[in-house]
Amino acid sequence: MADEVPPPAHQVPAVSISSDGTSSSTVQKARFSDRVRIRSILGRPDGGAGLAGQKVRISGWVKTGREQGKGAFAFLEVNDGSCPANLQVMVDASVSDLTKLVATGTCVTVDGCLKIPPEGKGTKQKVELSVVEVIDVGTVDTATYPIPKTKLTLERLREFPHLRSRTNSISAIARIRHALAIATHTFFDEEGFLYIQTPIITTSDCEGAGEMFQVTTLISHTEKLERDLIENPPPTEADVEAARLIVKARGEAVAQLKSAKASKETITASVAELNEAKASLSRTEERSKLKPGLPKLDGKIDYTQDFFGRQAFLTVSGQLQVETYACGLSDVYTFGPTFRAENSHTSRHLAEFWMVEPELAFADLEDDMNCAEAYVRYMCKWLLEKRYDDMELMAKNFDKGCIDRLKLVASTPFGRLTYTKAIELLEEAVAKGKEFVNPVEWGIDLASEHERYLTEVVFQKPLIVYNYPKGIKAFYMRLNDDGKTVAAMDVLVPKVGELIGGSQREERIDVIMERIEEMGLPVEPYEWYLDLRRYGTAKHSGFGLGFERMVLFATGMDNIRDVIPFPRYPGRADL
Ligand code: 4AD
Ligand code: MG
Repeated sequence: MADEVPPPAHQVPAVSISSDGTSSSTVQKARFSDRVRIRSILGRPDGGAGLAGQKVRISGWVKTGREQGKGAFAFLEVNDGSCPANLQVMVDASVSDLTKLVATGTCVTVDGCLKIPPEGKGTKQKVELSVVEVIDVGTVDTATYPIPKTKLTLERLREFPHLRSRTNSISAIARIRHALAIATHTFFDEEGFLYIQTPIITTSDCEGAGEMFQVTTLISHTEKLERDLIENPPPTEADVEAARLIVKARGEAVAQLKSAKASKETITASVAELNEAKASLSRTEERSKLKPGLPKLDGKIDYTQDFFGRQAFLTVSGQLQVETYACGLSDVYTFGPTFRAENSHTSRHLAEFWMVEPELAFADLEDDMNCAEAYVRYMCKWLLEKRYDDMELMAKNFDKGCIDRLKLVASTPFGRLTYTKAIELLEEAVAKGKEFVNPVEWGIDLASEHERYLTEVVFQKPLIVYNYPKGIKAFYMRLNDDGKTVAAMDVLVPKVGELIGGSQREERIDVIMERIEEMGLPVEPYEWYLDLRRYGTAKHSGFGLGFERMVLFATGMDNIRDVIPFPRYPGRADL
């Protein structure tokens, strides 16, 4: 045991619980700095009371500060982002200039002694810090600091993406998002899936919908060339002709020297001059061909001159690529950013969002649905276990029902019904007087209002709709025996609508070729994908979970722009 390495601080419980069940009185320091995280004080079962008498260094940002006792001392509410709770910090005027400390947003590092607050002060805290020494202060210009004590609306906060992590709501969401990401990796790791990093730059359109952002250097290169052509105009035809004449003259000079049997050195020097003239001619010819504008071939942009020698895009989904690993390593998943250039201004769409995409080999649609359900329920349980304090904050500030919703989802099986049945239910609702903006009939793509009606009103819990008409789904989904529907499934949840989209993949080469043709897609870019069906084809299935939609669902937030640190949507890409 001599070489025992301490485990990372985040893996150590904030307190050691002794055998009699009481909390120990040793504080847990952050491993890579000399401070103690506020979570490891206030997050203890005893709220930190058992640490009274301990000396600690804490750091954080002042949420609120007030001088009291006619400037004799100050109370600061300090938060370091480790948990939603603030530590109450008491500073005596003999220790520091209090006016520098009390402004909201001030950063402080202080040493002090943890104390049980005097009774009857109405404070909820089990422990407070009495400061012995102020180590560091990052002051704030209160006249310009945009995040005041009073609450700003979430819309207004979006104007300050670089400062909004200081707020209770955005920091709680960040911790919840982190927890959901760790839950994701833990779930798939426990289930034997391998994490595969699929490319962000791609040359295939997974969804075949063409809503892709292009990756190109042609535009910047063209701009640079156009600037250069203004500064150094290209050679004219006369310049090229002049260069040609020089080559001709030098060629004749060499021939003359040779026939006059000149010395070897003289001939060599003359040949060198000829070569130089030829090189200059070729440069002149090359430059004379330069034209402003994008390079064109047969009237179309010539992408062979682009960075990758072909058209490239930001991925809309890692599915096609992750399938190549599923058809070799069996169960895999990818989790990364995806991009869609759709002009959606809704509260559930982003131009850049994160997607979790498992791909299960030797699994059919039912296995796929079982996996999706188990995964979502696992995440709900995880949040209840690991981030209850943050969920309480969300319940208090945004959505009273969010904790109950997590509990319900964690404990109740999802509803399951076919698309055809879903349409029947919607038609019944319409017959009974329910009004939808989008008309209901077999064959339509379910609109968000339909999805939410089914999950919120009819089922009042998550549900999985499966076997959709082939006409509204992607080419890679497996054709059912009825020839009309495909083995697709969507998981719909209250508040959000579609959380997951997935399917069994078409593994039959002849059927998938027909589907590609039927949908008018080019075959060439998918040849590698078809190879998976040509060589050792395997039944397989998968799905994609929109990570931000999961955060929306868990937290009860209304707008997807507030659950990703740096939202990108039409007209906005700050930082
Ligand atoms: O249903 P989608 O388009 O499915 C796919 O991309 C499949 N290739 C996934 C797979 O089978 N591996 O997208 C999956 C999920 C949706 O259910 C939704 O939750 C989310 O991604 N999503 C978006 N989230 C935020 N903003 C957008 N613009 C989104 N588009 C889809
Ligand atoms: Mg979908």
